[in-house]
Amino acid sequence: MNSPAPIITIDGPSGSGKGTIAKRLADRLGWHFLDSGALYRVVGLLAEQRGITPDSPGMLGDLARTMPLRFDGEGRVLLDGEDVSDAIRTEKAGNAASKVAAVPQVREALVIWQRSYVKPPGLVADGRDMGSVIFPGAEVKIFLTASAEERAARRYKQLKEKGLDVRLASLTAEIRERDERDRNRSVAPLVAPAAALEVESTNMSIDEVFDRVLDRVKDALPNLTWN
Ligand code: DC
Repeated sequence: MNSPAPIITIDGPSGSGKGTIAKRLADRLGWHFLDSGALYRVVGLLAEQRGITPDSPGMLGDLARTMPLRFDGEGRVLLDGEDVSDAIRTEKAGNAASKVAAVPQVREALVIWQRSYVKPPGLVADGRDMGSVIFPGAEVKIFLTASAEERAARRYKQLKEKGLDVRLASLTAEIRERDERDRNRSVAPLVAPAAALEVESTNMSIDEVFDRVLDRVKDALPNLTWN
């Protein structure tokens, strides 16, 4: 693939901090940002609303190909003009996303969406298969991990801060179940891509992780300008 702009991929399981790191990196570089999980979440949400299950893979693929989705450039996700940014962030939408993400027709339909984000001056792409499948020629690949307990604890803190009533034990169980599905599906399972820098962040702060990632990016792309 001949890419029109440089690409940095950041993959990892839910709660690994990849979204925060990817967003921060895109802001520092002044590059575009792709939250690929949001695409799967929108398909999951739409499928639930319309009662389409993974037993109808063709219908799910059509849904993913034709959904009236738009990002407003300021982090809001619009579906047919309606702001669904909060609706796609719930645990329910995350689980629905993980289910539709195992359907090959959905993944296939989303390849085109995802590759259309590559524009100068560059793209930071966050997901599960960014470095392994969608952008195998990326200039820099990062794979972030953390233990399931740590990831559930981070999520618990975030949800509590939003005033939501959640239980740590059920969050941990849900994270494990989602990991299991994302790692073991037959298409594009969650794996560390070849040549990726792996960062195990269980005992690291976000700033420490960001510095580690930044060192790698500076080594690989020495001529970059920073904000
Ligand atoms: O990163 P996230 O939690 O928003 O992702 C939601 C679900 O979407 C996740 O459980 C698996 C799926 N997903 C995927 O299969 N491939 C991606 N590139 C991104 C997300």
